[in-house]
Amino acid sequence: MCGIVGYLGNRDIESVILVGLERLEYRGYDSCGIALVDEGKIKITKVTGRLQNLKDALEKHPLAGSVGIGHTRWATHGSVRKRNAHPFTDPGGQFAVVHNGIIENHTELRRELEAKGHKFVSQTDSEILPHLLASCYKGDLLSAVLSTVKRLKGSFALAVISRDEPDSLIGIRTGSPLVVGIGRKEFALASDPLALVGITQRMIALGNGEVVVIRAGRQPEVYDFSGQRLRPQSVPIEFRPKAVSKGRYRHFMRKEIFEQPKVIATNLERRIRNARISLGSAFRFYPEELEDFEHIIIQACGTSYHAGLVARYFIERFTGVHTEAEIASELIDRTSIFGKHDLMIAISQSGETADTLAALRAARRHSDLKVLSVVNVKRTSVDRESDSSIYIHAGPEIGVASTKAYTAELFALLVFAMELARLKGTMKPNELKDIKSALSCLPEQMAQMLRQDRRIRDIARQFQKRNSYLFLGRGINYPTALEGALKLKEISYVHATGYPAGEMKHGPISLIDSKTPVVVVAPRDSTYEKMNANIEEVAARGGQVIAVGTADDRELAKRSAAFIPIPEVPEYILPFLTVIPLQLLAYHTAVFRGCDVDKPRNLAKSVTVE
Ligand code: M6R
Repeated sequence: MCGIVGYLGNRDIESVILVGLERLEYRGYDSCGIALVDEGKIKITKVTGRLQNLKDALEKHPLAGSVGIGHTRWATHGSVRKRNAHPFTDPGGQFAVVHNGIIENHTELRRELEAKGHKFVSQTDSEILPHLLASCYKGDLLSAVLSTVKRLKGSFALAVISRDEPDSLIGIRTGSPLVVGIGRKEFALASDPLALVGITQRMIALGNGEVVVIRAGRQPEVYDFSGQRLRPQSVPIEFRPKAVSKGRYRHFMRKEIFEQPKVIATNLERRIRNARISLGSAFRFYPEELEDFEHIIIQACGTSYHAGLVARYFIERFTGVHTEAEIASELIDRTSIFGKHDLMIAISQSGETADTLAALRAARRHSDLKVLSVVNVKRTSVDRESDSSIYIHAGPEIGVASTKAYTAELFALLVFAMELARLKGTMKPNELKDIKSALSCLPEQMAQMLRQDRRIRDIARQFQKRNSYLFLGRGINYPTALEGALKLKEISYVHATGYPAGEMKHGPISLIDSKTPVVVVAPRDSTYEKMNANIEEVAARGGQVIAVGTADDRELAKRSAAFIPIPEVPEYILPFLTVIPLQLLAYHTAVFRGCDVDKPRNLAKSVTVE
């Protein structure tokens, strides 16, 4: 995790770096720092806590310079202390480095450097980097960088500045993401293109094992780790500054929840054109290839995994193809399940989640299976390492709690399942037509769910002091129960467990008492009768039910302490609608409890460590 930024150009460097760090704060926010080269010296300011503390420190003691780097940290090695914050420098003050990722052989390298007299001040793996650079430096910055990276094991993105080269900025990438911003006479480096919006117009996404040397007045030069010059193409930065601001919303999470109807409407236009399905230009499978897949393994983490669980229903119901949905970090050791004719679907909003990548790579090592990725951020590692991709076009998702990416992932996966059914002939044209027509109503139905915001805020107010929740669902609603519980616990620090309702009697029923709200996802669908029986079991034990149910279900409304109506829709539409009140419930609960909604403690948006 961690966010890194670098800038070389004529603007006020301190401000550009602070804006970049602000946009990257979602990647980590326990400490931060900045280093600039000023009149032959590297000057560093670092603080613990949020970026505001760095702004305050710089307000008192401003820095100026020709080139600079900045960092926002999510601690891995070394506790949250000023001395473990980045940037780091070597004892001679020649280099400053910011790092995102993990240097796996740092202990060995540290010992080696200590034996040569180097003294370290932090407990981090990152501090060895400027020391190693200084010991490899023989007058040429690029050669020192290439010698340094040859010694490193692990995944990393680095930005480097040198006291002796005040017009140069170096970026290095293997594993962790790094993009190079290219403007008119100005250049930048960042962990995510979001940091470059409004600063540069074009960018290059560095590949694994690549170094970029940026020098004032010249075009950036990209090399591989053997020193071979590469000629990557730059691409425009897609987002406008509005997309990365909160606008009239108090939190990014709230803005992103409310963007969902628009995101689905955009995807409808892109994916269903003149009644035909289009999976986009990054979807490169031939129809014959698709027809041949007999086993699908979906893998992802967190919210994206929940989207995968829903997709399992879509695919199995529409096509009959045996589909498994697995947690990426648990799949890594199950390589024997991968078969040659399988399709792996890797789902990731960020496209950089280390566990998802590790499962993808493990599958590649053990089988010739094909990989389809479903990602939001283009040109990321998951995207690049897949045979084919579907982009979910959710726009930048900045709130740590994923919301609009979830429903956009569901949409992409539903459309994929429809296309598979068409090719395999498992659905008749009129059945597919019905689904398309149901989907056309989805943006308005989602907007209708959002209009219940006030009702859900009242429910959140009523239950705000409860410290434990149970979320139940069956069939296609079970992943929604998991997602509702995840949202609540991650942003409001309330214990919440999502469970398949049928399993409740095998254990969790003992949790039920008058203090534990039980959120049931119970629309009138194929699981309704059994779900009702489970709700009776909850009520019989004094549990207070918060029900998401079909609008005219008066019986359920009567039996519930709180009732959230949803329109009567086909089963495959339900997950898009039932999740919205649960996102809002989590949001309002977190606000009532005074939690930092967009930056919950201990979390980071993009989890790039295993
Ligand atoms: O970027 P990804 O979709 O790969 O991220 C996966 C999870 O880390 C992510 O969904 C996480 O669980 C969110 N904080 C959930 O809101």
